[in-house]
Amino acid sequence: MHFQWYPGHMTKAKRQMQEDIKLIDLVIELVDARIPLSSRNPDIDELGKHKARLILLNKSDLADPKQNEAWSAYFKSKGFFVVKIDARRRNEMKTIQNVILEACSEKIERDRKRGIKNRPVRAMVVGIPNVGKSTFINTFAGKACAKTGNKPGVTKGKQWIRLNKNVELLDTPGILWPKFDDQMVGLRLALIGSIKDEILNIDELSLNLIELLQKYYPGMLRSRYEVDEDQEPVKVLEQTAVRRNCIQKGNEPDYSKAASLVIDEFRSGRIGKITLEFPPVTD
Ligand code: G4P
Repeated sequence: MHFQWYPGHMTKAKRQMQEDIKLIDLVIELVDARIPLSSRNPDIDELGKHKARLILLNKSDLADPKQNEAWSAYFKSKGFFVVKIDARRRNEMKTIQNVILEACSEKIERDRKRGIKNRPVRAMVVGIPNVGKSTFINTFAGKACAKTGNKPGVTKGKQWIRLNKNVELLDTPGILWPKFDDQMVGLRLALIGSIKDEILNIDELSLNLIELLQKYYPGMLRSRYEVDEDQEPVKVLEQTAVRRNCIQKGNEPDYSKAASLVIDEFRSGRIGKITLEFPPVTD
């Protein structure tokens, strides 16, 4: 399968961020906990190199809890602050607020020494499309999200969303695109639903998923679909079709229907809590 992205959009977004980054103290980067490296844009490390950095392992509710811990440890070992979240829920928002202040403690101390009091920390939220940025901002900022210049005909300048007296978010979140360094990155992004399904071959995608699950989560397909897992992925798909009544004319298994079902059930977490890439071993 071949995956593509759009370099034109990417260049524009990057230029915008290079401007915006001068105004901020902290970069909050959302990644998808199921594929934390493949869902990053590598340029963000360069863009944010002199800033405090917070990684939010989002959609952690869908990922393998053990791997969530491993990824948290990995990013912490690289000098990031890390919080794992489900951006739809408010329960972690207080923790995030505290971690933001901790991440910016040097700046707060610098301000204090200069006699500047109560200057809020300014943060920019970045992430690749579909990673949950809007959801996070809505949950985190809540009602504060209401914007004033957002009416037709009103030129919208840069807007700061004041969360409280301590934190402001820049309301033009930088959108960054992933880099398809290798086809596995494209495959993982396709699996989590970050690439339009219309341009994907779902049948092939489901076979790739089955293969990954056989390798990393043995037993999971068996317990979900009551299939014999120890056979070719296409045979597992065929049995799944039969078990789930995906049958077409002539009493033949409907592979495409079964493929969509497996992909949907993976994405919604019904097959299980699954992580599709693992932290590189660090020394
Ligand atoms: P974006 O701005 O980064 O492009 O992403 P957005 O917030 O639109 O989120 C993309 C999808 O991911 C949404 O689902 C959203 O509900 C879901 N989502 C965001 N964060 C989490 C999370 O932590 N856990 C889970 N399980 N889902 C999350 P959607 O299907 O596109 O919309 P909807 O049907 O939920 O409204």
